[in-house]
Amino acid sequence: MHSHLLPGVDDSRQSRFFFDRMLRCYAEIGFGGIVFTPHIDNPSVRTKKDRIQKTFEWASRKAEEYDLKTYLGSEYYVVDQKKIDLIPIFGKYALCETFTGTMPKDYLDVLRRVKDKGYEIIIAHIERYIWLKPDSDVMRSLVEELKVKIQVNAMGAMTKEGKRYLSLDMVDFLASDCHGDRKLVGELYRQLEKNPNVAFKMCDFFAQEIE
Ligand SMILES: [Fe+2]
Repeated sequence: MHSHLLPGVDDSRQSRFFFDRMLRCYAEIGFGGIVFTPHIDNPSVRTKKDRIQKTFEWASRKAEEYDLKTYLGSEYYVVDQKKIDLIPIFGKYALCETFTGTMPKDYLDVLRRVKDKGYEIIIAHIERYIWLKPDSDVMRSLVEELKVKIQVNAMGAMTKEGKRYLSLDMVDFLASDCHGDRKLVGELYRQLEKNPNVAFKMCDFFAQEIE
């Protein structure tokens, strides 16, 4: 649901050669597909946007050899953008990340504009934002007003914050956020086994979107 595996596009540490092994790893563990979400507007990552589509097409052809479905989206870094320009997953879902240490002044306003463009918001690795608490006013705006979905990383699920969101049943997606480390694929599988309610939510989500 959230990965950086397209070689040579963003800060993926994945080479074209090892991409093949990564696909085998996903297929052998039993995943049916991968959503590629290259960074967009991340202030510390240079993304070659003009390469995204072509590399995705190459990756999709490779993935066919392993019977893996592929989908393209992006991980959109919310700062203070005036113009919203992102690649939505399934044409509809905007995976959004932001600063971990402090909330950008215009955070909710930018998200409102994302929503006004007709996108559904998924908050990427929510466990990382130290300024965001499950019982805060900002969280109430996110959940009640903006109706966001919430994603936790496989590694993040082992942190105190990740466990808290999971125990509150606030999590819609677990994801690898894999940049090339194959261990994360196994870790994602383990976390889905440990959190069957999230796994079932994801099955329902994908069944609905893929039909
Ligand atoms: Fe990411």
